[in-house]
Amino acid sequence: MGTAFNLDNRLALCASFVRKDTKLVDVGTDHAYLPIWLVCSGVINTAVACDVRSGPLENAKNNIEFYHVQQKIKTVLSDGLDNIAPEDAYDIVMAGMGGELIAEIIKRQQWLCDGKRRLILQPMTRAESLRLFLCENGFDIIKEKACVSGKKTYSVMLCEYDGILRQCDKLFQYVGMLIDDYSDDARKYISAVNFKLKKKIRAYEKNSREYEELKIIIEKLNNCTKE
Ligand SMILES: C[S@@+](CC[C@H](N)C(=O)[O-])C[C@H]1O[C@@H](n2cnc3c(N)ncnc32)[C@H](O)[C@@H]1O
Repeated sequence: MGTAFNLDNRLALCASFVRKDTKLVDVGTDHAYLPIWLVCSGVINTAVACDVRSGPLENAKNNIEFYHVQQKIKTVLSDGLDNIAPEDAYDIVMAGMGGELIAEIIKRQQWLCDGKRRLILQPMTRAESLRLFLCENGFDIIKEKACVSGKKTYSVMLCEYDGILRQCDKLFQYVGMLIDDYSDDARKYISAVNFKLKKKIRAYEKNSREYEELKIIIEKLNNCTKE
């Protein structure tokens, strides 16, 4: 089966973290482009595409039929992983949802901590809350990469549970492993985070703890995005 279409850079980066022949679940699938592309390009044989809302799931079903992969991709109405069987979910993608929602979805499934699962996470907002949650709950971010798609920058994290509780300082919360990544896309991600923090700091009174904390982060980010 040939590749049916191209993914945008954001979903392509998520796809690049998926293991060959894994059992994949795409949580919050909407259009289901990610599982369709992975199946059509032969990376995986089967997948589950799930969404909490019936409208997006219909959208997914239509696209799955359009690409003739309905024998290989199952659609499930599910809030997070609540209706997903653990034996169907070894690589789990959660892309395009808020970081806090992704953390909530992970928190509800104890079986994600059995050491057999890989989480591929692409938060749209509040990535810092997600990194903090992962560090404090025994999930190791084993890889993190950035990409630019359209006018926006995104981070995709590959995580595994190992039970080790990690310190997560503010700098790591905001830019994660990208601090050590000198690619153009990582530097663009860091610049975008820094831009947001420069806006955020205006809401705090000078000399307040939050102000001083953010000032230090902004200075560090200024240094690592200097030409
Ligand atoms: C912006 S779309 C992202 C689609 C796709 N994953 C992507 O990255 O392009 C977010 C999708 O997540 C779904 N969603 C929101 N909360 C969810 C939850 N608790 N469980 C499953 N899906 C959820 C929404 O219905 C929506 O279809």
